[in-house]
Amino acid sequence: MKVVAISGSLRQASFNSALLAAARPYFAAEVEWIEADIASIPLYNQDIDGDTKPAPVALLMDQIAGADALVIATPEYNYGIPGPLKNAIDWASRPAYRSVLAHIPTLLMSASMSPMGGVRAQGQLKQVLGGTLTPVFPCPEFAVGSAQEVFEDGKLTDEATAQKLERLVKDFTAWVAAEVDFED
Ligand SMILES: Cc1cc2nc3c(=O)[nH]c(=O)nc-3n(C[C@H](O)[C@H](O)[C@H](O)COP(=O)(O)O)c2cc1C
Repeated sequence: MKVVAISGSLRQASFNSALLAAARPYFAAEVEWIEADIASIPLYNQDIDGDTKPAPVALLMDQIAGADALVIATPEYNYGIPGPLKNAIDWASRPAYRSVLAHIPTLLMSASMSPMGGVRAQGQLKQVLGGTLTPVFPCPEFAVGSAQEVFEDGKLTDEATAQKLERLVKDFTAWVAAEVDFED
């Protein structure tokens, strides 16, 4: 199984990137884990979106095309999806309904310094991924609120959150296996 992990935050000490890192060990050791780089993707402009994509976009699309699942962890910026993440999705979403995002099982998570945990961004993300025909793991939002209290030096230190994350990954992996069988 190949998993592409996308953090919606570009900052070095991101809680969302740390959340992805915390999730990784709960996937089987043989899972190939690919961290997507969305920082170098240019702003979407349909004038430069043709058969030849900008190199960082082509790389992301190849990675997603070769993957069995996506895991996205995102912050919430002003009650919404951070621009870089939405930008990456827009690039990867062409051709409409037949893009690499169509039919790839996807897990959403969020972390935020507010107690709300970024649920509003996740809600928006679900709606956006509906437009790309991306199946999102149906579960209550996995949202880590007050992230500064559950991470320390980039490590998830809160045991209760870690246990929930482990369960989430286990359930998601089973769901992916079922989806893949279904598609085959
Ligand atoms: C421009 C900006 C807007 C933000 N808006 C929200 C918001 O609407 N809701 C929220 O919960 N946190 C908001 N925050 C705080 C983020 O949750 C916090 O910075 C978080 O650590 C970002 O995620 P990261 O650690 O993965 O970078 C905002 C932060 C920034 C920089």
